[in-house]
Amino acid sequence: NDIDYRSVTCQASPNIALIKYWGKRNEELILPDNDSLSITLDLNDMHSYTTVSTSSSMICDTFYFDDIQQTKLSERMKKVLQEVRRRAKDNKIKFVEIRSHNSFPASSGLASSASAYASLAIALTNLFQLDNPQSTAAYLARIGSGSAIRSIYGGFVRWSSENECLSSCIYPAEHWSELRIIILIFNSSKKPVSSTDAMQRTRETSTLFQARLSTINDKINKLIEAIKIKDFNTFAKITMMDSSQFHAVCMDTYPPVIYLNDQSKHLIDLVHVYNQMDGNQIIKVAYTFDAGPNPFCFIRQEHVDEFLSLLKYFYPTMNDDVHKHVSNVNEKFSSI
Ligand code: PMV
Repeated sequence: NDIDYRSVTCQASPNIALIKYWGKRNEELILPDNDSLSITLDLNDMHSYTTVSTSSSMICDTFYFDDIQQTKLSERMKKVLQEVRRRAKDNKIKFVEIRSHNSFPASSGLASSASAYASLAIALTNLFQLDNPQSTAAYLARIGSGSAIRSIYGGFVRWSSENECLSSCIYPAEHWSELRIIILIFNSSKKPVSSTDAMQRTRETSTLFQARLSTINDKINKLIEAIKIKDFNTFAKITMMDSSQFHAVCMDTYPPVIYLNDQSKHLIDLVHVYNQMDGNQIIKVAYTFDAGPNPFCFIRQEHVDEFLSLLKYFYPTMNDDVHKHVSNVNEKFSSI
């Protein structure tokens, strides 16, 4: 009897942090130690889409990834569903079927958990018509996978570490439409240390960590101002410095957590040489690295072709991929 069958599909894109979230002050609720700021990618380029359905004839919760039924739901997924049941007014929710897909290869070295949990959170919020949809979806995404909270919105997004620790859109993507993101995949294998374990280890052993925290708010304020006036030089410098500081903190952790590889370091040098090539003080490209060796490069449209030829010269085998990953900043994000 599927007479009460209901289903909702939502999509969300990965986001790339300009100021990294690193450290949880509450593991259970995933409350971050610091504010972070990110850019959500364009839905047309990369997204996860998730269909959630429910009907009284379902006999358990099920999860399909790329149409393959998984033997069980992850603990985080169970946590999300538990919270949905707690919030849902109609107590008739029995079971849920989750079907999740990515429009980009899961093994591409990109964190797909942010877009996956954001699309799941939005879909569940809609399916069960939960109150305060934006903040509820943000809460659900956060308890699924911390940084997923920033993929609830498009454009430039801030995740607050205060009060309810929710996210908000600072500027929509169209505010800075010349901005492009080039993603290079140097290595698509799994991280040597999960971000959860590495954050914990950092909190316990790194003395640089506290010093980093004291720099965050100032950087965020300056970055927001740079985005506001489209000052690429300041935007680029703060973004690159925060990436390096985050990796320095990882290195200061004991035993050290090392996410960058030789290719990452080569790219860092290449970007700085390229930026200084004309002898003037204009920064053309900025890089940032998450918990992995793959660079995300920010660049204005006018310099894309020139920089891509440089990349093709130095990384000839990456030709095709590089083109595929020139992404616009997201201008559209969720169905809420
Ligand atoms: O959401 P998690 O647990 O995968 O942590 C992500 C942390 C970084 O990607 C390194 C930084 C960030 O803010 O996304």
